[in-house]
Amino acid sequence: MVTEIIKNREIDFKTITPSILYFGNPVAIVSSINPDGSPNLAPISSFWGLGWTMVLGQLSDTQTLDDLQRQPDCVVNVPSPDLWEAVERLAPLTGKNPVPPEKSAKFRFPPDKFVEAGLTPLASESVRAPRVKECPVQLEATVSHIHTLQGEPRLDKLGGGAAVEVRILKAHVRADFVLRENYVNPEKWQPLIYNFRHYFGLGAQLGKTFRAEI
Ligand SMILES: Cc1cc2nc3c(=O)[nH]c(=O)nc-3n(C[C@H](O)[C@H](O)[C@H](O)COP(=O)(O)O)c2cc1C
Repeated sequence: MVTEIIKNREIDFKTITPSILYFGNPVAIVSSINPDGSPNLAPISSFWGLGWTMVLGQLSDTQTLDDLQRQPDCVVNVPSPDLWEAVERLAPLTGKNPVPPEKSAKFRFPPDKFVEAGLTPLASESVRAPRVKECPVQLEATVSHIHTLQGEPRLDKLGGGAAVEVRILKAHVRADFVLRENYVNPEKWQPLIYNFRHYFGLGAQLGKTFRAEI
């Protein structure tokens, strides 16, 4: 006996055209190296990991993508919910000077994004880009491939983008979030969630998967 597929008109859904698809993603602050050697910092919410490979979604108009195309060193810093205001201080900034015309109404170029955000640069061990000291998770990484994303009208309208594939070289986790040497304590660690352009923490735990080791 096969499950019967019911007809859509029988249920209460709307077919809509949202301009963004940010269904609640963790935020990261990517640090990269500008052409003059200074560090750049930018929030992203399009990223995911498989093993120690991570994919970062970058719009083509970002200084971060320019930096990563030129110089593969970066750090994926993952902030906790209490850092949302620092992330929001970075939100209207770009490392592009001059600011691209399509961004100039809402964005500005600051001399130093660490200073603007009230964040502290911490030297990395394996890459040139600095870590963000206040972020409890800092993943040193190097770019391995850049996959161009094009042909989808809404992304093309934003100027296109890229899926930047990076390899994680070193994972630094704040000591109080570490459990038994190599585990991140899921009862303590919380990411900052970007949910349709609003910031959230996590709610209470609901359960765990059959493969949970702690
Ligand atoms: C919470 C948050 C999440 C963001 N996520 C992304 C993202 O996933 N990819 C992206 O290209 N831009 C994202 N942005 C926008 C960039 O941060 C913005 O374009 C910034 O100017 C890039 O800085 P840069 O030009 O110095 O690289 C996000 C912004 C915020 C505030």
